[in-house]
Amino acid sequence: MTKKSISSEKILRFRKSERNIHWAIAIPFMVCYASALTLVIFYNPYPSRPFRDVFSWIHRISGICFIILPIIVVLTSRNDLRLFFYNIKQAWAWSLQDIKFLFLMGFAAISKRVTLPDQGKFNAAEKLNFMVLMSTYPLYVLTGIFIWLTDSALLSWLIHFSMAIIATPFLFGHLFMATLNPSSRVALSGMFSGFVDRQFVKHHHASWYKDKFENAGEPDDNKEKPVPDSMEDSSKTRSDKE
Ligand code: HEM
Repeated sequence: MTKKSISSEKILRFRKSERNIHWAIAIPFMVCYASALTLVIFYNPYPSRPFRDVFSWIHRISGICFIILPIIVVLTSRNDLRLFFYNIKQAWAWSLQDIKFLFLMGFAAISKRVTLPDQGKFNAAEKLNFMVLMSTYPLYVLTGIFIWLTDSALLSWLIHFSMAIIATPFLFGHLFMATLNPSSRVALSGMFSGFVDRQFVKHHHASWYKDKFENAGEPDDNKEKPVPDSMEDSSKTRSDKE
């Protein structure tokens, strides 16, 4: 197999700015989650245990990163703002196909005979994940600041805590799909190099594939040279559209 044919099997799924915003949110979020879990499970029953302050400060500092890092990415990716809005629109636009997908996805996981409806850039489960994150983000920030700056913030604490409970199935579901589930973890490279197997995308995101690669529906298409970050080999430079 030639280098050229290897490269044409991969397509650019997420541009650098999209990957950056993902990690600018995901890494601080996971540190916040892990430090909060440690505080609740390990320290709340016995607050005098040593190093509680360390975890409390890890939580606060990762909370600050959760606010600041995405802002920095947006400010430094101004050319891709239209793409960010496109992604948001994709996540919030629902059709009957999406409802059908949600209903059938469990059955499809156990039986090969169940066919799932074509999906856009994000499938319905990913859309839900995106929507939950977007709706809870401002509340995490506001309640977090309130808890930090005021002495009696029981309501804020309850909201903050409830949102972490709501996030739990989405977080673990997302991590499972992204890293462990054999049929979806193929997409993982998309959040590192940006590139994903063409056949995978054609199959799992058929509507988006047609729209982007056959109808040029996504904004700012092809401004970024589609060379994977980790593969600077010039033989892999090619137009993303064929
Ligand atoms: C090690 C941790 C993580 C890994 C490996 C990971 C991986 C990925 C991958 C591969 C995608 C693209 C899926 C696709 O191609 O359709 C994605 C999308 C996304 N990720 Fe993550 N992610 C992680 C943590 C997180 C966290 C903590 C959050 C939320 C705070 C998050 C939020 C999202 C959102 C909103 C999307 C777009 C919609 C979706 O695919 O669910 N990710 N992630």
